[in-house]
Amino acid sequence: MNIRRLTDHTGAEAVGIDLTRPVTPEAKAALNRAFVEYSVLVVRDQTLNPQQVLNAVELFGSVFHQHNTRFAIPACPQIHYISNQDRFPDGSRYIPGEGWHTDHSNDTKPPKATVLHAVTLPDRGGDTQFANMAAAYAALPATTRDRIANLMAIHVYQSSHSSRKLIGLSDANKERVPNAVLHPIVRTHPENGRKSIFINPIRIEGIVGLDHREALPLLDELLEHATREEFQYRHEWRPGDLVMWDNRCLLHKANGDYDMEQTRYLYRVMLQGDVPR
Ligand code: SIN
Repeated sequence: MNIRRLTDHTGAEAVGIDLTRPVTPEAKAALNRAFVEYSVLVVRDQTLNPQQVLNAVELFGSVFHQHNTRFAIPACPQIHYISNQDRFPDGSRYIPGEGWHTDHSNDTKPPKATVLHAVTLPDRGGDTQFANMAAAYAALPATTRDRIANLMAIHVYQSSHSSRKLIGLSDANKERVPNAVLHPIVRTHPENGRKSIFINPIRIEGIVGLDHREALPLLDELLEHATREEFQYRHEWRPGDLVMWDNRCLLHKANGDYDMEQTRYLYRVMLQGDVPR
C-alpha cells in the first residue's frame, strides 16, 4: 500500500490495498494515521457491497446510527445511500449535501467521520468539496479568535435560518434525535490536538448569549473566511473510490452540477465521535 498527499493541507490517497481482504495491523495503523493527519482519506479502486463497506469502516471505528433512516439500505440498514434520484414531497429533486455543512452536528456526539463509496457516478461533475477548518482557524485574526473562544452554538436538526432544506424526520426518528444541543464554536481535535472552527449553516439556530443580529453576521463571516479556496480540497470522484472525511475539522459540500438524467449513487456510513470540546 502507498499513501500520497493530495494537497499540502488536506487529503491523502491510498493505493494498492484491497479492503475486501484482511488488512494487516501495520496497514490499519497507517490508514488511521493518514486519516487523522490529512482529514480526507481516499482509498482507490475498491468494489465493495454494503456489508463489505461495513467491514472496511470498522478499521476506523464503530458505526454511528444516522438520524434519518429513510435512506437506509434494507439489506444492511447501517449503510445508507446518497442518490440524486430522491424527491421532496412536492416532487422537486433532492440533492443531499448541497451547501457547506458538517454531518449530524445536532447530535450530542456528532460522527467523527463520514464515509462514501462510489457505486454509480455521472460522466462528469458531482465533486465533493472540503474546507479545512483547522487551517481556517489558524488563519483567523487574533481578535476573531478571542471573540469566538468561548462561544457555544445551538445545533438543531434543521436551522430556521438555512435556505437549504432537509427531508424531514419520521416521528420515530424524531423521538431519538435530540431537539437541540450546544457545541463550542472552536473545538479541539481529540486525536491531533488542532483547534478548528466548528460551525454548520444548516444546523446552527443561534449562539448562546448573542442576539441573532449579532450571531448571524458572525456565523456568515466565519463561513466566508473558512471556505476560502486556499483551505479547500475538491474531490473529483473516480469509480471505485472510498472516501472518508473527518467531520471534526472539515466542512464539506456536494455539487449538483451534473446531468440529472444520469444517476449519482454512493453508499454512506458514519463513525461514532466524541462530545466536541
Ligand atoms: C454528504 O454531504 O454527506 C454528501 C456529499 C456528496 O454527496 O458528495
